[in-house]
Amino acid sequence: MLIRRLYAHERRLYADHLKRLEGDDRRLRFARGGVSDGWIDDHVAGISSGDLILAALDDDRVVGAAHLALGTTVAEVGVSVDADHRTGGIGSSLLTQAVAFARNRRAEKLYTLCLSDNRSMVALARRTGMAVRFQGGESEAFLDLPPPDPTTVTQEISTGLFAVFHDWAELMDCYSEAMVNAVPPLTLARSG
Ligand SMILES: CC(C)(COP(=O)(O)OP(=O)(O)OC[C@H]1O[C@@H](n2cnc3c(N)ncnc32)[C@H](O)[C@@H]1OP(=O)(O)O)[C@@H](O)C(=O)NCCC(=O)NCCS
Repeated sequence: MLIRRLYAHERRLYADHLKRLEGDDRRLRFARGGVSDGWIDDHVAGISSGDLILAALDDDRVVGAAHLALGTTVAEVGVSVDADHRTGGIGSSLLTQAVAFARNRRAEKLYTLCLSDNRSMVALARRTGMAVRFQGGESEAFLDLPPPDPTTVTQEISTGLFAVFHDWAELMDCYSEAMVNAVPPLTLARSG
């Protein structure tokens, strides 16, 4: 599964992904009710240009995403995965990448707010090493982040390179197809 940063002009793909979250999933993702398609459009339009959206892509479809909102010292993360792609490790991969990207931007703490009944997110946060604090219906998860190191920088670089090679391979496929279509079929020269 290709995981890479989404460019600003691709944020519509992120909105489409969020709109595929149904009923309770929207409440769990945003820890609030009343999340309509219109609310999602406004939310995505309001995302700061300094934030990072890491996306898991299946062709051009965003099947999972981590939104990393970068404050001065705290990075807040929200994760979501399309229902038909869950329990395959995409959520964990996104959260692990988000940790590296946050460290590379010198965030000192990773934070996420989720509802206490969100068992899969609580499991995911714990597996990433986050300390989870339950407060009634809501839970907050924190992770102290060390400064960047060669591993986190290499992780971010390899994510970028993988995306470039992936685009390159797609472009080569497109080029081969264009060449086949451009060359006229061989015709046998008639003798005599
Ligand atoms: C939370 C979410 C992102 C997880 O995505 P995912 O791709 O399924 O994540 P992973 O496959 O990496 O791991 C899911 C973990 O949850 C566990 N899990 C799944 N359902 C569970 C349940 N009902 N109770 C307890 N654990 C559960 C899985 O066993 C797995 O843990 P494990 O690998 O230790 O076994 C996804 O369920 C989702 O998008 N939910 C809706 C939005 C949301 O709640 N977002 C989080 C708020 S920030």
